[in-house]
Amino acid sequence: MAAIINQWAVITIVLSGITLVIGVFFIRRGNREAHMRAMLTASALATIFLVLYLTRLGLGYEKKYVGPAEWRGAYYFLLISHIILAAANLPLAVVALWNAWKGLRAAGNLGNIGAPVARRFFDRHRAWVRWTVPVWLYVAVTGWIIYLVLGRYGQVVQG
Ligand code: HEM
Repeated sequence: MAAIINQWAVITIVLSGITLVIGVFFIRRGNREAHMRAMLTASALATIFLVLYLTRLGLGYEKKYVGPAEWRGAYYFLLISHIILAAANLPLAVVALWNAWKGLRAAGNLGNIGAPVARRFFDRHRAWVRWTVPVWLYVAVTGWIIYLVLGRYGQVVQG
């Protein structure tokens, strides 16, 4: 059961990373509506990931690395950076969404984001997403790598 939850957690975080890239692609093309939809989907997927991940932790399921010793350092570097940035990603995403939401409320619609009352929120949105997007992608990609490494070199310690 916990192993299946773990599998779905990885699927949702990888899908959220893909949706994030699609959302960036849309805004680069100037398609704000599609950008908003993609980013809300990415955020929903990341929220599902968080719920699954916490459920798995609650079930006490864990795998430890039992692979080649010469890769241990690199593996733990990946794991620790992944955990720290995953924790940072939550407030980063919340602030990015919050500013987008406040900007949209102030503008009235996505065609009016240049209005002075909305502009400051979207300026903040742009400033925050400069960090949010790379951190989110790093977390999604390393989460996938860690899953693959533990599939090959992992040993269940509980559960
Ligand atoms: C956490 C989720 C989100 C992320 C990671 C994100 C990411 C981005 C990125 C990378 C840009 C381009 C910034 C730049 O050109 O410097 C951007 C711009 C923009 N985003 Fe988002 N976005 C998110 C959610 C949303 C939502 C929900 C909305 C809808 C209200 C939205 C509306 C916009 C708009 C209108 C722009 C263009 C701003 C401008 O041209 O000044 N974003 N976003």
